[in-house]
Amino acid sequence: MKFNYHNEKYPQINVLKGRSYYVPFDTDNVSDDREKSNQFTKLSNWKFKYFDDVSDDVFLAQGEDDIVVPSNWQMLGYSNPGYVNIKYPFPLLPGKIFGKNAVGVYTTTIDLDLSKANYINFEGVDSAFYLFLNDKFVGYSSVPHNIAELDLQNYAVNGKNNLKVVVLQKNFGSYLDDQDKFRLSGIFRDVYILSRPKDHIFDYKIKANQNGKLEIDIDKKATVKLFDGDKFIAQKEGKNAVFTVKNPKIWSAEAPNLYNVVISYNGEYIKDYVGFRTIEIKDRAFLLNGKAIKLKGVNRHSSTVNGFVETVDDLINDLKILKEHNVNAIRTSHYPPHPILPQLCDKYGIYLMVEADIECHGVVWRNAQFCDAKIYNDIARDMQFKEHFENRILNMYERDKNRPSVLIWSLGNEAGWGCNFEFVAEKLKKLDDRPLHYEGAYYREVNDYFQERDVLDMHSRMYPMVQTVRDFPNTMDCTKPFVLCEYTHAMGNSCGDVKDYWDVMYSADVYMGAFVWEYCDHGVKTKDGFLYGGDNGEELHDGNFCVDGLVSPDRKIKSSFLEVKKVYENLTVERNGNKLKINSRNYFANIKGDFKVTVKNEGEILSETVYKIDVAPFKSTTVSFVVPKEKGFTAVYWEYLVDSDCEILASGTSLAKGYFELSPYEFTMPTGKDIDYTLDEKTGDITAIICDGKNILKNPIKISVLRAYLDNDTDSRTRWKAFNTEKAFTMVDSLEKIGNKTILKGYHGSIAYAPHLCFDMTIEKGDGYIDVDFSYRTNRKVAYLGRVGVEFALDEINNAEYLGLGEGETYVDKNNYAVKDVFKFNPSENNCPYIRPQEYGSHYKTSYVKLGNLEIYGKKDFSFSAIPYSQKQLIAKPHDFELLKDGKTYVNIDASISGVGTHACGPELDRKYWANLADKLSIRIIVK
Ligand code: GAL
Ligand code: MG
Repeated sequence: MKFNYHNEKYPQINVLKGRSYYVPFDTDNVSDDREKSNQFTKLSNWKFKYFDDVSDDVFLAQGEDDIVVPSNWQMLGYSNPGYVNIKYPFPLLPGKIFGKNAVGVYTTTIDLDLSKANYINFEGVDSAFYLFLNDKFVGYSSVPHNIAELDLQNYAVNGKNNLKVVVLQKNFGSYLDDQDKFRLSGIFRDVYILSRPKDHIFDYKIKANQNGKLEIDIDKKATVKLFDGDKFIAQKEGKNAVFTVKNPKIWSAEAPNLYNVVISYNGEYIKDYVGFRTIEIKDRAFLLNGKAIKLKGVNRHSSTVNGFVETVDDLINDLKILKEHNVNAIRTSHYPPHPILPQLCDKYGIYLMVEADIECHGVVWRNAQFCDAKIYNDIARDMQFKEHFENRILNMYERDKNRPSVLIWSLGNEAGWGCNFEFVAEKLKKLDDRPLHYEGAYYREVNDYFQERDVLDMHSRMYPMVQTVRDFPNTMDCTKPFVLCEYTHAMGNSCGDVKDYWDVMYSADVYMGAFVWEYCDHGVKTKDGFLYGGDNGEELHDGNFCVDGLVSPDRKIKSSFLEVKKVYENLTVERNGNKLKINSRNYFANIKGDFKVTVKNEGEILSETVYKIDVAPFKSTTVSFVVPKEKGFTAVYWEYLVDSDCEILASGTSLAKGYFELSPYEFTMPTGKDIDYTLDEKTGDITAIICDGKNILKNPIKISVLRAYLDNDTDSRTRWKAFNTEKAFTMVDSLEKIGNKTILKGYHGSIAYAPHLCFDMTIEKGDGYIDVDFSYRTNRKVAYLGRVGVEFALDEINNAEYLGLGEGETYVDKNNYAVKDVFKFNPSENNCPYIRPQEYGSHYKTSYVKLGNLEIYGKKDFSFSAIPYSQKQLIAKPHDFELLKDGKTYVNIDASISGVGTHACGPELDRKYWANLADKLSIRIIVK
């Protein structure tokens, strides 16, 4: 082939060296909106032609269909999107790319003025492209997430020019593009022309520290003006501009104080942010401005309902959501983010760990079985990839080096370890003093004497057990600060372990913090709902492993995110008698706003007071309330509503809340209308509850141990399936009637195997009530069950009310965010919040629930859910949009239900969250 760079080891040809991201203006009235610059021309409208394989012909082709850039061609119907996690979607022969290689040809025309220097900038192209101007080859680039800037001067004519970009799906460098994501192609970030004076600044570096020292190195003798907002502070000339600001307002995520510089040279003006802040590592602690801060993080991909394409509004919307959920840090997994994101993080206050565009995870499948031993290092130590490592890591640094929000450079993800990393890491260390992160170095050492690489500044792990996190700093191996670059895998109904991790994180300075895997689900939007891996005819895919975020692809908040928000709160509250002590967990900014204290008795407000608080870092304040004398469940609820200076965080947003129980619920022997029941003496099922001559049950009340498998029920699902849990039934062994009581003993299980459990049940018909007492002991060979309780169905109901932990779903290991109170909801609209259906909607510590006119009171708290689908339907349907409502409300009342955990990728469910091996359900049923 005439053009064959994509099969060669060069990451780029004729692409300018990486530089800091900026857009110059021809006036000193520089706007934050780059589109206002006269020197900037965005190229959005192109003609496009798709080929399913590369050949010489594609280089001669012209675009035909209209296409808007940025976009991913698979999202527009040119071939299908495919999702794969670890495996390479091509044969594994490092350095060689076999198989079909799809091509997108993009053409357009541009006007150029040759009295100017003209550059074209590509902010993101997957995977590689050839650029032609007026049919002349200009250059080639293969790094998807770094900016590629090419000089058009030698190929341009005055006036109209024909531009052609030939984008390839795969290239030599694709061995480094093996991130867990939909594999999408095309020009997915903006393309623009910069027309600049021929003599201009190329690059500059800003360094500023918490003591007010600011130093800017520029490659030209420029003029630099420093401003605090609009207020001019000082001006310097030269290649090295040094300023000292007395008592600077320091930058942090809590108080993102920015200054501005305008650097001007030869009629051009570049405005940039300056944040005075200092990063250090001391005594195994990661310090920002001298404080051992915690990174309350999430991993974030560039992923929207439009594939990899993000608008600035999308970015701002995500930051707003993160700020509203107490997240203060993003790891840009697993490549550099949209170039505007770091600037927005400077402005709104989010810490960044920016990661290089490197993942080679698929090598671990080389021998057709998953392994993470030495084979993991295949590419990292393969010298033919050396230039790719260098290009990807150093250009990440070059682009974002001036951003105060960038606290840490991450060398990549899951790419083994070897000389390619060591060599660039050493180089980067010389260029910049920010700490380096890379989790993958750990695996190199796993089989050897344990000593992590010196060039890295922190220990990093993903998905360790809580106990490992607790223990590690007490071992000799821990010589640096410790971070979890991934933890609490948010797939489906998940994140049952966040508080346990953070109890450890908050306990010592050696812990830097942790990043949830991951912020958002990846899915392909259709008119019905979202698709995942395997839904698009892919030969190779990883199913729904891509729907593992705290928010859905269209940013709906899941209960897991509320739990994360709670644990990430920046204040804690302690109760002592009638006093609430509010402790700040901030390091730099005061906690300011309204602190609302409400006292309630079973949902009824007894008093409500709003206090204005203003608590300095590390300090506390105390407020009080009147302890009520009412009987039954009383509690004091508190909520913090922020007074915010941040544009994207509205004042009045609730950032923290909680409650303290003052007196427990008391069972008061409620009664209702006259009711009776019928019992199947063989199965133990309560087949009817009769009131006013009518059976109000749609499905009988049966013992149930089945929960629609969570993504996290990995090993347990296998075990439950082996025990045939889906087909389990109840066997009555003995039945006795004494007065109004029927006493049953029996087992619950399936054919061929020992039963899941044995039970005792007493059903008592009283005057206006039926009492059911059910106690069980499990078969320990089943280890633990998903749930143990009863299930039944009613005619569809629209009104339910309960006193329990809500208002979102709550489980034994996911309820820190909830409060115990009286809540109302509509069961018929209690839809499944997960793209792949699974157990949802349970409420832990429920004292009573009213389902229409049927009321259930616990003599002891229970868990319940009331939803429009049966557990069996949730198991059977692969997508939420396939679930069918059949006019019933399905109810589970559980003596005990297992926690949700995080086992899809994290450790096994902690034993303390197993459904109890023996327990009791003691309820009264009445009809009103
Ligand atoms: C990690 C990896 C992530 C993601 C996650 C599973 O090992 O770094 O990219 O694949 O597992 O969802
Ligand atoms: Mg991976």
